[in-house]
Amino acid sequence: MKGWIVRGTGNPWDVFEWDEVPEPSHEAMQGLTIDIAGLRTRGEGEPPCSSYLFVRVLAASLATPDVTMATGEYPVPMERPYVSGQEAVGIVDDTSPDLRDWMGKRVMGFTPQPFGSFAPRAVMFPPTIYEVPDAMSDEEAAAFVIPSHTAYHAVHRRGQVQRGETVLVLGAAGGVPSSALQLCVAAGCRVVAVAGGADKAAFCRELGAEVVIDHREEDFVEVVRQTLGPNAIDVIVDFVQGEPGQRARPLLAVEGRHVMAGHAAGLLPVHPNEFYLQNWTLVGVCMGSGYGAQALQLEEDAHAALLELVERGAYRTTVTRVVPLQEVPAALRDIVERRSIGRIVASL
Ligand SMILES: NC(=O)c1ccc[n+]([C@@H]2O[C@H](COP(=O)([O-])OP(=O)(O)OC[C@H]3O[C@@H](n4cnc5c(N)ncnc54)[C@H](OP(=O)(O)O)[C@@H]3O)[C@@H](O)[C@H]2O)c1
Repeated sequence: MKGWIVRGTGNPWDVFEWDEVPEPSHEAMQGLTIDIAGLRTRGEGEPPCSSYLFVRVLAASLATPDVTMATGEYPVPMERPYVSGQEAVGIVDDTSPDLRDWMGKRVMGFTPQPFGSFAPRAVMFPPTIYEVPDAMSDEEAAAFVIPSHTAYHAVHRRGQVQRGETVLVLGAAGGVPSSALQLCVAAGCRVVAVAGGADKAAFCRELGAEVVIDHREEDFVEVVRQTLGPNAIDVIVDFVQGEPGQRARPLLAVEGRHVMAGHAAGLLPVHPNEFYLQNWTLVGVCMGSGYGAQALQLEEDAHAALLELVERGAYRTTVTRVVPLQEVPAALRDIVERRSIGRIVASL
């Protein structure tokens, strides 16, 4: 089977190779040392991977980690070669002996490397496997788990946003931020969305943001100060950090929370004085990280709450573009060059 395999290091549009890729097999799983989205490396002497599903990929989601894994900037170094693609929807066509009940089901979830989703078959692992509701399209399901669960943890579990609060969302038209924006609207918050460009601003408005600022046209800090007041923000939901995150912080009200959940613009040092002198809270969010055995329950609770919102029409996956699998490297370039809105999905 052919897919996008990475052997070298560099930008996807330079190093992704459309070539024969290894077929996931029971034998290959015995030698696997990395699982759960590459976040955990199996220690020496630990048993080999014993629970897994093989899926026939229907659609795969594109995101920044597909770029940073290729460039070598991903927090976990990737052994080469690997098939890129972190998330997908697919039909289960084989399983480990303990997961036979999943055979034939349409499932969505992580597709960790080396058997990623930019190929006709990929591998998924518990606990990040979810059956797809009938009403959800393949494209929506392909990009549901990572943005929705991350946004849920940022907004609810960690950010603890409350009805009536004013929430500033940076990079608000992006894949995960646009999910967070919707969750804040659904929770009864007043959302101030910052995005770059008229089409992204229109998208944020459509998702329910009350104040939308196109940072290419206006200084977002000044606009917030003038329209809402100098310290009107209760929570910053920040998937951008870097200079925008740093400049946004003084807009916080007393007891405000700066929820640091991503770093599209890089990381800048934070001085404790900023927080303790203002009675602010710095909130860290990293999906799954450090929760150990509790992770399964957390993700199940988040998933149930998200599906309820989907059913009520209060939340949706923000897929705005579907491309053929062959166009993945070019579409990843659009993400890097900030031309993408919401999520891009590859259809197989
Ligand atoms: N905490 C977790 O567990 C977790 C899970 C998944 C993802 N993440 C992180 O969340 C962040 C967002 O991911 P995503 O997939 O939603 O990305 P995305 O779709 O590219 O959205 C990020 C947004 O940030 C803005 N941005 C991008 N590069 C920027 C730069 N250099 N300077 C300033 N703004 C920039 C862009 O908005 P404008 O062009 O409109 O300004 C873009 O729409 C990433 O850092 C990702 O690693 C964290």
